[in-house]
Amino acid sequence: MDGCPGGIRRTLKKVWYALCGDRPYVYIGRFIVRILPQSFQARVRDEFFTARGPTGVFADIVRAEVNRQHYSADSEEEVRRHTRELFWGSTPGKRWHDLGKERFRDVDAYHTEFLGPRRPLIHHLSDLLATTEGYQTICEIGTGNGMFLHVLSEEFPSIRRFVGMDFNKEQILENQVAYEGSRLKFIQGEVVDWIQSGCVDGTIFVGCETFEFFTQKELEELFRLVRQAVELAAIAIFALNRTGFDGETVSQPRGSTAYSHNYDYLLKLHQYQIFRRHIERAGAYDRVCMLAVAQPGGW
Ligand SMILES: C[S@@+](CC[C@H](N)C(=O)[O-])C[C@H]1O[C@@H](n2cnc3c(N)ncnc32)[C@H](O)[C@@H]1O
Repeated sequence: MDGCPGGIRRTLKKVWYALCGDRPYVYIGRFIVRILPQSFQARVRDEFFTARGPTGVFADIVRAEVNRQHYSADSEEEVRRHTRELFWGSTPGKRWHDLGKERFRDVDAYHTEFLGPRRPLIHHLSDLLATTEGYQTICEIGTGNGMFLHVLSEEFPSIRRFVGMDFNKEQILENQVAYEGSRLKFIQGEVVDWIQSGCVDGTIFVGCETFEFFTQKELEELFRLVRQAVELAAIAIFALNRTGFDGETVSQPRGSTAYSHNYDYLLKLHQYQIFRRHIERAGAYDRVCMLAVAQPGGW
């Protein structure tokens, strides 16, 4: 549309969005990616979460197509496989964790972008530990480079065990070396397996920007399993949602393979009590900090 006068271009754009509802390359991307070099697509995919790879319209097309394939996968199993094999368990996940480490070496960025937003969750945890005895373990689900688990271990010296779980083998091996000799233990694998084999009563599960990458079904399965398998349990959540999502009950894609979830609703559905909640606007998103406890005597 470069040759169109501004008014005509705007009108055409409006008509397109009214009829189709999404950007044009979401529709034509599947055809265009077939003729783009595999090496170019791989570079975009490897930097899928960091957006540090190639830029421009063809990179946007590849990204839109990756999202389309993910969200329209044939089955729940297929979505879970994508999350593990194509994204978080491989190069795109490792690049994301490396970027975080690099960016937060800067003290200002660390305080304003990393620690500051997570502070309300630390306060919630502090309130819980001050009012309830018996919590001995903190398990961070999707620990990535382990930075937040390390913060928690310094904030809460009374906790005996700190366990960081993640799919990304390379990252977990790196964490094991970086935190050798500390109280932090890192395990590569599925949190549901750990709950069934290595988990103990009195565990607080923490997910920082992790539950967005669970499907609704997966998240509900986790909530149910924690309730059933762990005697004294709490779930702490730090997550971004599409703004105004708290009125919804069905989780929805929110881009970059993530989902908005109504945590409040889903936790109550699985008989958790919301202990503390803090929601604030963060750019185009709502930042949710929530701490819930499994109600004794539930199913
Ligand atoms: C966006 S990253 C967040 C990393 C880190 N918590 C942070 O705040 O930077 C999400 C992480 O969750 C991990 N993850 C997602 N589902 C998981 C599960 N069921 N068990 C273990 N790790 C999981 C992924 O491997 C990924 O590293």
